[in-house]
Amino acid sequence: MGRTAVTLSGWELDNPVIPASGTFGYGREFAAIYDINCLGTFSFKGTTRQPRFGNPTPRIAECPAGLINSVGLQNPGVDHVLAVELPQMAAYFHKKVIANVGGFSVEDYVEACRRLSQSEQVGLLEVNISCPNVEHGGMSFGVTPEAAGEVTRAVKAVSAKPVYVKLSPNVTDIVSIARACEEAGADGLSLINTLLGMRVDPRTRRPVIANRMGGYSGKGIFPVALRMVYQVYEAVSIPIIGMGGVSTAEDVIEMMLAGAAAVQVGTANLVDPLVCKNIVDDLPQVMDKYGIKELNDIIGGAHHG
Ligand code: FUM
Repeated sequence: MGRTAVTLSGWELDNPVIPASGTFGYGREFAAIYDINCLGTFSFKGTTRQPRFGNPTPRIAECPAGLINSVGLQNPGVDHVLAVELPQMAAYFHKKVIANVGGFSVEDYVEACRRLSQSEQVGLLEVNISCPNVEHGGMSFGVTPEAAGEVTRAVKAVSAKPVYVKLSPNVTDIVSIARACEEAGADGLSLINTLLGMRVDPRTRRPVIANRMGGYSGKGIFPVALRMVYQVYEAVSIPIIGMGGVSTAEDVIEMMLAGAAAVQVGTANLVDPLVCKNIVDDLPQVMDKYGIKELNDIIGGAHHG
């Protein structure tokens, strides 16, 4: 049987399968239906400096190949996460986790990252500069190399853990943003976040989502995500966590061949709560099918002829 372990900035994961932020909460509901310690790790819901109620409802619009969300970074804030969520999580998840962090100013990111990085349960920070659902923050930091570099530099200066920056696909040139993050000291990159989209209800003739637009995710975006991971891999030397429309072990292999060192699974968790467990279970036989003995060896394989 092949070896599924992968490494992110010195942190060895048993396998590359990671539920994505915002689709897995703090893992509690999933831990009630399977032992989530089979996962590589997971990325918990984006945490901001202050608690946030989120956007008005409706926040979700279904699409044939995925969904659009405009949750608006709803979360209980960094104090509550450190005092309540992480201690509770320790009872059912015995590995380190990824702390996804959102913000509305550089100071917001710095403060939340500084504090979360001090938790022994946090393996790395995933700095979300790509949320399309909030004004004056979120994605606005992820659409220019200058702003992306500024946040990365500031967060790196205060973080005791590796800093991975989560990039937006809603840009003309994701490669220039990726390079700016690497130059500013990022230890790794996560990509892609959701694609800005919308639906209109023909009966009401109004946008389905109260905030009008939201982030499109799910199977339909897999080829776009794969293309961006492929392009970014050619431009940087830091690890990439690939995500976007992944729902099978075959997708994980494809993402890693494009350049991902580990792979997040998002919207598929909302379709089938067992999907990540099934991917973990299926990986060894899919590796056998393609003659893969060591998963680490295939990272970026699509670039090497
Ligand atoms: O609206 C949200 O909470 C989504 C966040 C994101 O896509 O980064």
